[in-house]
Amino acid sequence: MSETLIKVVNLKKYFPIRGIFFTKARVKAVDGVTFDIRRGETLGLVGESGCGKTTTGRLILRLLKPTAGHVYFEGKDVFKLKGEELKKFRKSAQIILQDPYTSLNPRMTVFEIINEALEVHKMKISDKEEFIVNWLRKVGLEKHHLYRYPHEFSGGQRQRIAIVRALVINPKFVILDEPTSALDVSVQAQILNMLKDFQREMSLTYLFISHDLGIVKYMSTRIAVMYLGKIVELAPADELFEKPQHPYSQMLLASIPIPDPEYALKKPKVRVYGEPPSPINPPPGCRFHPRCEHVMEICSKEEPPFIEVERDHYVACWLYAKR
Ligand SMILES: Nc1ncnc2c1ncn2[C@@H]1O[C@H](COP(=O)(O)OP(=O)(O)OP(=O)(O)O)[C@@H](O)[C@H]1O
Ligand SMILES: [Mg+2]
Repeated sequence: MSETLIKVVNLKKYFPIRGIFFTKARVKAVDGVTFDIRRGETLGLVGESGCGKTTTGRLILRLLKPTAGHVYFEGKDVFKLKGEELKKFRKSAQIILQDPYTSLNPRMTVFEIINEALEVHKMKISDKEEFIVNWLRKVGLEKHHLYRYPHEFSGGQRQRIAIVRALVINPKFVILDEPTSALDVSVQAQILNMLKDFQREMSLTYLFISHDLGIVKYMSTRIAVMYLGKIVELAPADELFEKPQHPYSQMLLASIPIPDPEYALKKPKVRVYGEPPSPINPPPGCRFHPRCEHVMEICSKEEPPFIEVERDHYVACWLYAKR
């Protein structure tokens, strides 16, 4: 089994909702998640909008303070890092966001944007212009793009610039948060393949966040399925698609549109009940129980443990756990 790069242990983030005089309630955006990311893999993180994917990513990068829990990067507690060690971590762990329109500073040229990353992380490079042009070429851009501003590029080109900015400092780990969901399908494929090539060349580890299951399957080694702040299933990518065990994963997979109508008719139907409940007041026991067609008495009373049902395949569901 390959080496662990990142270990996430019982991580929680509750956002306060403030009233006029006091905190009225808390959004339980991430509510006790535990998982590992292995060196060199792509861990996919999927789930409906608002289930806590981005919050999990931001916590791992220490862009948010957790309510509870730990993140270990190469064995070191990320929330305890200081000084040089914190700088080293900031250089090792990067993020590429969904929206290339807002993630690049509109007042800076491409050269300035990338040079800023080099300066912040104190990269010693003799000829910066040549170095940056070489990087631009790797993502299909040219020397004449160097002194242009973000608004002069297409969405796909901006995402290429964001990729260079993240990778130019030679990180070990990159969070890709819906990196292609704002782009055309043809451009999506180019960017995804480019990310795969960089992963191979630079031995990168990815956390790939998306609600598009087809893309997650294409990119991921393993996939974690998130529901209302919890991981409900974690399995190798192919296995999750062939044998999803959690009723929520089955529901998600059943909702992928299938282009072949004959197959779509033959496909076993999983019924979808309702909308996800609010993370302010999540249901007791298993959070999915109000929408689950296999619901049993225990499901509304006790939270199911996260257990290994097959090698490397984990599920949190009372259908599989011993009571
Ligand atoms: N800064 C914040 N303050 C208050 N609530 C927040 C904050 N950030 C996120 N939330 C809430 O936390 C929950 C999880 O949000 P998050 O952005 O992590 O979801 P997501 O899975 O990334 O969704 P999407 O697929 O739409 O990007 C949501 O209910 C969201 O409204
Ligand atoms: Mg998000």
